Amino acid sequence: MGYIIAIAGKGGTGKTTIASLIIRVIKEQRLGSVLAVDADPNSNLAQVLGIEEKATIGDIVDEIAASPEKIPQGMAKDTFIEFQLQTAISESEGFDLLAMGRPEGAGCYCYVNNVLRNIVGKLINNYDYIVIDNEAGLEHLSRRTTRSADVLVIISDATVVGLKAAKRIKVLSEELKINIKKNLLIVNRLDKEIEKEKIKDLDFNYIAKIPDDPEIFKISLNGSSIMSLKQDSISLNALRKIGDKIWRKN
Ligand SMILES: Nc1ncnc2c1ncn2[C@@H]1O[C@H](COP(=O)(O)OP(=O)(O)OP(=O)(O)O)[C@@H](O)[C@H]1O
Ligand SMILES: [Mg+2]
Repeated sequence: MGYIIAIAGKGGTGKTTIASLIIRVIKEQRLGSVLAVDADPNSNLAQVLGIEEKATIGDIVDEIAASPEKIPQGMAKDTFIEFQLQTAISESEGFDLLAMGRPEGAGCYCYVNNVLRNIVGKLINNYDYIVIDNEAGLEHLSRRTTRSADVLVIISDATVVGLKAAKRIKVLSEELKINIKKNLLIVNRLDKEIEKEKIKDLDFNYIAKIPDDPEIFKISLNGSSIMSLKQDSISLNALRKIGDKIWRKN
């Protein structure tokens, strides 16, 4: 069964960046096969990973809604969607990607969510690692797109407000009884040590930090990929150091 790494956090804290860094290091260390899941309808995980995105789940659902005659006679709609989705997985060197996308049809957001949840539930057995880049905030928890995870990685900036938001996400995941084996707070873009006072009541299993990396900023300015980041960049080195807390299966 695949090991699920779910990434969550407030908007713009670095979820997509850190999801991509994690995928890059899992690949580099040859830890196993990886499915990257872009569960943010507004996201750009494919671009940050430097791969061409095929159709998204939203595209496929829209296409089938527009031409229901494509569903073979006698086949259930859900079965047909699932079949189409298998062909929508982008395969890249060292990892595959599945993107939720943004459904156009009115009211079908929930539906696309359900499709995503079911398909991830099935694909889980085909990969060693599933890395899910979630949308900002808490909705994916209450909508249960994140149903279970071996590790919930919550990304925050170092501000008091940011850290409170991170804690809220953790508490909500507990209240909703989402099956999370361990949680990790990553304070992103922090160059000094984390002030103990600020984190003393947060109650995470692990707390780590990633420094601000000017190379990442350059990459996002050009719209290029995390895969082009230098091998010895400070962000990659920081992530390698805390990797055990994220992807070690124990
Ligand atoms: N450690 C870092 N050093 C420098 N820049 C960073 C770092 N982490 C993230 N960034 C930059 O911060 C911006 C936001 O990052 P990112 O898109 O990963 O956040 P996000 O949480 O996925 O945002 P959203 O909520 O919109 O999906 C990007 O321009 C990214 O390049
Ligand atoms: Mg993002």
